[in-house]
Amino acid sequence: MQPLTGFRDFLPDACAERNYIFAKWREVAGHYGFVEFDGPVLEELDLYKKKSGEEIVRQLYEFVDKGERAVALRPEMTPTLARIVAEQHRQFRKPLKWFSIPQVFRYERPQRGRLREHFQLNCDIIGEEVPESDAELIALVIDVVRAFGFTSQDFVVRISDREFWTELLKLEKVPPDRWEEMLQAIDKSEREPREKTEERLGKLAKPVFEILEKGGESVKLNEIMGNLRMRGLADFAKIDVRIVRGLAYYTGIVFEVFDRAGKFRAIAGGGRYDQLVAQLSDNAVSLPALGFAIGDVVLGEMIRGNATARAQMEKTITSERDVEIYVVVAKEEQRGNAMAAIQQLRDSGYRVDYSLASAKIARQFRLAEQTGARFAIVFGDEWPQVGVKDLTSGKQESVPHDKVPSHLESLREP
Ligand code: HAM
Repeated sequence: MQPLTGFRDFLPDACAERNYIFAKWREVAGHYGFVEFDGPVLEELDLYKKKSGEEIVRQLYEFVDKGERAVALRPEMTPTLARIVAEQHRQFRKPLKWFSIPQVFRYERPQRGRLREHFQLNCDIIGEEVPESDAELIALVIDVVRAFGFTSQDFVVRISDREFWTELLKLEKVPPDRWEEMLQAIDKSEREPREKTEERLGKLAKPVFEILEKGGESVKLNEIMGNLRMRGLADFAKIDVRIVRGLAYYTGIVFEVFDRAGKFRAIAGGGRYDQLVAQLSDNAVSLPALGFAIGDVVLGEMIRGNATARAQMEKTITSERDVEIYVVVAKEEQRGNAMAAIQQLRDSGYRVDYSLASAKIARQFRLAEQTGARFAIVFGDEWPQVGVKDLTSGKQESVPHDKVPSHLESLREP
């Protein structure tokens, strides 16, 4: 039996890659002073029906549980975060800077870079309205992607402002209940034939296409670019009002990250959602908020497809995974002494392996090489001396068994 379409098994190599990605995500979020939180995988269906917007609602994994509750697997983390914050924000100093790494589920048409489950790093700032916080968040997403070895040649953050478009909608006297539909049409305009967008936009098509063709900017967008310039990160970003974002709750600055070669769908996306917390709060707590999520699927493909990023990942994975010491039991009578040494070496923090079943010496050495071990320690006739063999150079020395730890320490690379 295979896993369901769009779902993945994580065999050890894939799991090591996933852990590598998560470790970098945690590290960079930490550099920016974000702390980790989590929430439930399953939530009330209504949380998403009301808050996520049409597209995600169509993709929900939803069912009625045994207590007759309508529930859904989380398709994203933002509604959960807003729910938690609406309820519990009083306990925390503002602004909150929280991150999480949820697995999320969307019934999408599986395609390159899009599956039916994925992991996302979410970073959100709650309780801050100054544009410096938008710039801080964009700097963070840039640094998250840079951490994997990518440069401004490889990716770009396209930054936009929903207000730029809502101002136009106001000017054109479009009733507010049609705004979401218009914004979605603009969001999709890059991926859809022009006629389809024109049809969706109606009389708005002309002014919208004029803006899309000549580009747009605003004071706030220029301010954010200025902030990124101060950090030396301006080459990683550009103003691009074609970005609108598919989710319903965004209210201001929005952005998406793309590979420069244009091979993939968005690597990351986010923006400001100043009304969501209030909408989920019984006593109308109003808290400005902004955040982004970056998925593991496109990022993983990009890492594997880029020589520098791939080499960096493989080096880290190998150094963290390979066994350091392989113990060779050359004489079965030595198994007890070998076990005592194995226990001691593991207690001292070495990664140690050995053959569980008795095996010929040559086979044990082959296994040692396969595990990537740097040293073999041979327990045989020489006891109480043991052989310490450097498997890279092939050099073997005879060492008193109780001096093995200090001997290994002296051989360790500085
Ligand atoms: P989103 O744009 O829907 O935003 O997803 C963020 C990222 O998750 C995408 O850029 C992509 O890398 C990844 N992603 C989305 N769908 C899939 C899929 N089917 N398969 C693989 N990867 C996928 C959100 O989810 C917002 N909640 C982000 C946010 C946080 N906004 C504010 N705070």
